[in-house]
Amino acid sequence: MKDGTAGEPLSPLRRSPAPRGAHADARALAALDIAAHLADPARKQAFVTPMFDVIAPRYDDFTRLFSFGMDARWKRDAITAGLETLQHASTHGRRALILDAACGTGDLAIGLVRGAHRAGLAAQAVGVDAAGEMVRAARARLHGPDADVAAHVNIAHGDMTAVALRDGAVDLVTAGYAVRNAPEPALAVAEFARLLRPGGVLITLDFYRPTFAPWRELFLGYLRVAGDLVGWTWHRSPVVYGYIARSIRHFVTARDFAMLLESHSFRVRTVRRWLGGGVAMHIAERR
Ligand SMILES: C[S@@+](CC[C@H](N)C(=O)[O-])C[C@H]1O[C@@H](n2cnc3c(N)ncnc32)[C@H](O)[C@@H]1O
Repeated sequence: MKDGTAGEPLSPLRRSPAPRGAHADARALAALDIAAHLADPARKQAFVTPMFDVIAPRYDDFTRLFSFGMDARWKRDAITAGLETLQHASTHGRRALILDAACGTGDLAIGLVRGAHRAGLAAQAVGVDAAGEMVRAARARLHGPDADVAAHVNIAHGDMTAVALRDGAVDLVTAGYAVRNAPEPALAVAEFARLLRPGGVLITLDFYRPTFAPWRELFLGYLRVAGDLVGWTWHRSPVVYGYIARSIRHFVTARDFAMLLESHSFRVRTVRRWLGGGVAMHIAERR
């Protein structure tokens, strides 16, 4: 069992290097062998974390633009599913605890807590992210436009595969575009299983390898070209957004991800697919 209790701040588990200026960092990333980093779990995080530090200030704009607004809809669906879960959660009078793994700027944590409070449900969220700049962006939201939920959302710098919360402390884990970025996705899933109480629910939203080969090539081709273009335009470094297509190619299909969940003490309740299996939301209950 790891240290930390529900609702306490999490200890920082992995620090990002201090930012040296977005363009300088983007150029340093471009010099790395991305294929070698993605293929090697021991090196992947050394690419992923600085990359998210670089893109953090424009991450929200990018996801809206890149997905033609669909990302906001998928996240709304994830939040709706999360709120349904909280409505039926047996929390025995205590506040429900939500973990938003790899929370980025905090869309899911903030949306869920706000939705819960509007529905009269007592809930608090902990968001954990490895990139210091993402943590900073999420906290800035809580000091600004999302201050209404700031007392109930705690954003921490850390690793989703080693979260400083007790076994079974969490009622709901959300993981938006998260697991694909972990050096070893199975370790992230195992950690979610450890953290959730039996009957607790995991909601993941992510990109997957489409199974139908012609569509897969078209889909990944679009993401690669569009990502490289935006990466070059905004950061003079195609690889910072071209990473998405490359990381999906190294990831699994939505069906294989469901099987991974089943093999880690989860019962998969729902798999919703969009874009021909290129994007999916899995809702799974901890057995
Ligand atoms: C594509 S963003 C998703 C952010 C947010 N969940 C959302 O849905 O918008 C992926 C996030 O995963 C974070 N990340 C990558 N590896 C991580 C790890 N091992 N532990 C925690 N966060 C990680 C990155 O820093 C980044 O913020």
